[in-house]
Amino acid sequence: MRVVKVNTGTPYDILIERGLTDNAGSLVKSVTNAEKVTVITDSNVEKLYAKRVVSSLESEGFDTSLFVFEAGEKQKNLATIASMYNHMADFRMSRKDIVVALGGGVVGDMAGFAAATYMRGIDFVQIPTSLLAQVDSSVGGKTGVDIPQGKNLVGAFHQPRLVIIDPDTLKSLPQYYINDGMAEVIKYGCIKDIGLFVTLETENALDIIEDIIETCVSIKRDVVNRDEKEKGERMLLNFGHTLGHSLEKIYNFEGLSHGQAVAIGMVMITAASEKAGITEKGCVGRIEALCKKYGLPVSDTADIAEIAAECASDKKSSAGSVSFVLLKKIGESFTRKTPLNDILEFISL
Ligand SMILES: NC(=O)c1ccc[n+]([C@@H]2O[C@H](COP(=O)([O-])OP(=O)(O)OC[C@H]3O[C@@H](n4cnc5c(N)ncnc54)[C@H](O)[C@@H]3O)[C@@H](O)[C@H]2O)c1
Repeated sequence: MRVVKVNTGTPYDILIERGLTDNAGSLVKSVTNAEKVTVITDSNVEKLYAKRVVSSLESEGFDTSLFVFEAGEKQKNLATIASMYNHMADFRMSRKDIVVALGGGVVGDMAGFAAATYMRGIDFVQIPTSLLAQVDSSVGGKTGVDIPQGKNLVGAFHQPRLVIIDPDTLKSLPQYYINDGMAEVIKYGCIKDIGLFVTLETENALDIIEDIIETCVSIKRDVVNRDEKEKGERMLLNFGHTLGHSLEKIYNFEGLSHGQAVAIGMVMITAASEKAGITEKGCVGRIEALCKKYGLPVSDTADIAEIAAECASDKKSSAGSVSFVLLKKIGESFTRKTPLNDILEFISL
């Protein structure tokens, strides 16, 4: 089994091995004295994996309950969180009990937020089942929900006690979501690891998915260890996300997926910084080719002025500027503040 150790305020392990879902009970037992476990999952993942996880927990003696909500980002809201609180309170969960998040990023973010806030914070374990969640969202302790004013506007930093990654669960993940997760994998290569980038160019990522997951979570671990609360280096993980997020808003979070938007965002921002002489020549061509290889779009017809305007209103813009993550070259990234008035000119380059 591969073990990646995270040294945040509360240290925890990320375990990676095919078939680990069936050992969930003993693995959860190794990090808790809880009597009760609430497994939180969505309607798709429930059908595929909930039974295995629940029976593994029960066989270790946990009093286990299951909370299921309808799959999809639309359910990532405070009403669903309220239902989780009701469920946990009715099940008489105490402060020493534990939540297991079984599913993609939506499940992980919401179950993590419910755990962060129920009785002022109880433990939780992540069992991520989508590629995006396995390479990115299950690690780092960002939890939260969407409100009508914006995505992930309400949330908390709350680190899991353990992350259990079973790459076999990806066999049931629709190709669309595999592609989506690949955008984040490509992002890791771009910002921190030329070796990963070259591997993605020369091999088929799914053939060596354990290596890819381990590399991505190790990069995220290193960044989060140094900057748990996103005061500096952690911002690098937003490469492609500022423009991507603007596109998602323009399309009202429909039609264009997060990964597709990030892929376009990475290409757009690197095209601009390459033209500005900031990024080594040839990078944008390689990023474009890699995104295409993994089924991701690289351009969009949205109005560039509208994209710039959305960027300027981004929740992460502050003091009259937005911090773009740029590449010096593939594998080396930095942030640069761009005044709000200059965004359009920069991205139109
Ligand atoms: N916390 C973080 O650091 C962080 C980072 C990036 C993204 N996110 C969040 O993650 C969310 C997106 O995550 P996502 O792409 O995993 O979305 P998701 O959780 O909606 O999962 C995508 C779809 O795949 C299904 N699914 C999941 N695992 C499956 C499996 N093994 N087999 C078959 N179907 C499966 C789900 O039911 C869903 O329909 C967004 O809300 C985003 O804000 C959080």
